[in-house]
Amino acid sequence: MASNRGVAYIKPGVVEIQSIDFPKLVNPTNNKKAEHGVILKIISTNICGSDQHMVRGRTTAPAGLVLGHEITGEVIEAGRDVEFFKKGDIASVPFNIACGRCRNCFEGKTGVCLTVNPARPGAAYGYVDMGGWVGGQAEYVMVPYADFNLLKFPDKDQAMEKIKDLTLLSDIFPTGYHGAVSAGVKPGMTVYVAGGGPVGLACAASCHLLGAAVVIVGDMIPERLKQAKSFGCETIDVKKTAKLGEAVEDILGVPEVDCAVDCVGFEARGHGKDASHEAPATVLNSIMEITRAGGALGIPGLYVTGDPGGIDANAKVGNLGIRIGLGWAKSHAFVTGQCPVKRYNRDLMMAILHDKIQIAKAVNATVISLDDAPKGYKDQCNVGARHCLALFLFANEVSVMGTASAAVSIPLDPSMQLFEFPPHVSIKLSPKFQWQSEYTNQFLNIAQIFHSPRMANT
Ligand SMILES: NC(=O)c1ccc[n+]([C@@H]2O[C@H](COP(=O)([O-])OP(=O)(O)OC[C@H]3O[C@@H](n4cnc5c(N)ncnc54)[C@H](O)[C@@H]3O)[C@@H](O)[C@H]2O)c1
Ligand SMILES: [Zn+2]
Ligand SMILES: [Zn+2]
Repeated sequence: MASNRGVAYIKPGVVEIQSIDFPKLVNPTNNKKAEHGVILKIISTNICGSDQHMVRGRTTAPAGLVLGHEITGEVIEAGRDVEFFKKGDIASVPFNIACGRCRNCFEGKTGVCLTVNPARPGAAYGYVDMGGWVGGQAEYVMVPYADFNLLKFPDKDQAMEKIKDLTLLSDIFPTGYHGAVSAGVKPGMTVYVAGGGPVGLACAASCHLLGAAVVIVGDMIPERLKQAKSFGCETIDVKKTAKLGEAVEDILGVPEVDCAVDCVGFEARGHGKDASHEAPATVLNSIMEITRAGGALGIPGLYVTGDPGGIDANAKVGNLGIRIGLGWAKSHAFVTGQCPVKRYNRDLMMAILHDKIQIAKAVNATVISLDDAPKGYKDQCNVGARHCLALFLFANEVSVMGTASAAVSIPLDPSMQLFEFPPHVSIKLSPKFQWQSEYTNQFLNIAQIFHSPRMANT
C-alpha cells in the first residue's frame, strides 16, 4: 500500500506531520465511489490565513483534521468517469469543492455548492465544517468532480518555471481579485484595502491589474506595509491613527475612497490605541465610513458563526456591532463569502503565464518543505505579529531539478551566490528526469526561491 503524509491539526498552536491514509476515490460525505475524481501527487500548496484561524483555536476544528485547501498537483490516477484529465497532467485545484451539477454551480457560485457538504452549502479540503474532505498539505490528495474542479496548466515545463506564482491560483490570488472585483474596482478608481496579509496584498496587486488610480493598504505591521509599498501602494498604519478618514485625506485630499475591501475578517483589531486588542467590527464599520455613497464593499475577510475565542458572548456566535444603518444610508453594496475561485482562475493563470502580474513577489511567497510545515505555521503566526512572512509554499518536488550534486556545483548568475539546498529540504530523485541543460533555467528559478533574503532571515 502506498504511503502518504500530511499536516494534522492537534490542538491550539500545534500541528504535526502524520502518516495518513493514501487517498481513495471515495466521497467522504456519502461513502460512494467517486469515479469522477482523481488522485493528485501534490507539487505545492500554501499555509493560508484561514488555516491560522483554526490553528489559533478560533474555530471548532477537531483534533486530527488534515489541513490544506490550496492544492497544485499532478494527476497520478483518474477515475473511470473523468474525461478531460489523464495521468501526468498538472493542475491547480480551487479550494472550493463543487459538483458542477447543482443550481449554485450552474450559476457560477461554486463557493456555495449545494451537494458537497451535508451540513451547509459550500465545502473545502481540510477545513472545519466544510464537508470532511481530507486536506492537501500532504503528499497525495483526492479531488472529486475533477473535470469541473481542476484547472489544467497548458504546458508542464512553462508551468514549472512559474510554479511559485501558479500555486497562488488555488485561493489567495483569486480571493484578492474577487475582493477587488466585488468592490467594483475599475480604471481610475481609488481603493482602500484593509489588511496587508497575503489576501490584502493579492487584492492590492489585483487592483493595480484592474487599473485603479490609487490603492491604499491599511495594516499595523510595518513589514506588511513596506511590502505593499514595494509594488506601488500607498499605506496607512492603522495603529497610528484612530480616524481612518483623516489618513485617507492626507493621501487623496478627500476623506473618502471610491470603494473598499475587507481583507482582515473577524480577528480584526481596533485602530489607534485600540490596535492592541481585538475589535471585530472595526474594519466593516470603518470602510463604511470612508467609502463614498453608492460605492461597494468587497468582504473576502472571513466572518464565522462560531468563535470559541470571541471577545464577548455576541462575538462567540458571530454577532458583531456593525453599523448597518450607515451602510444603508450610503447605499453601499456588500459582497461576502468564499471566493468562487473557478470564476477567475483561468484568466488569472493567463495573466501569470504572460507576465502581466508577479503575484508571488507581491505577496512575498516563501518556500518551505512539507517537513517544515509545523515551523511554518509558527513562524507565520509569530512573524505575522512582528515582521511578516506573508505566505508559505511547500515544494515537495525539487526532484525535477536534477541531482543534488549537479545542483550545487552549478555556478549561478554572478549576482547570486552559489546555491545550496537548505538542510531541511529533502531531495528526492525522480528517475523520469535526467539532468539536462534545458532544466537549468528552471533550477535557477527555484534556487532563487530558496535563496530569497526572506528565507535567509528566518
Ligand atoms: N473569502 C475567501 O474565500 C477567503 C479566502 C482566503 C482567506 N480568507 C480570509 O481573508 C482574511 C485575510 O487572510 P490573510 O491570509 O491575508 O490573513 P492574515 O491574518 O495574514 O492578514 C490579516 C491582516 O490584517 C491586519 N489587521 C488586523 N486588524 C486590522 C485593521 N483593523 N485594519 C487593517 N488591518 C488589520 C493584520 O495585522 C494582518 O496583517 C482572513 O480572514 C482569511 O480567513 C477568505
Ligand atoms: Zn486559503
Ligand atoms: Zn454544486
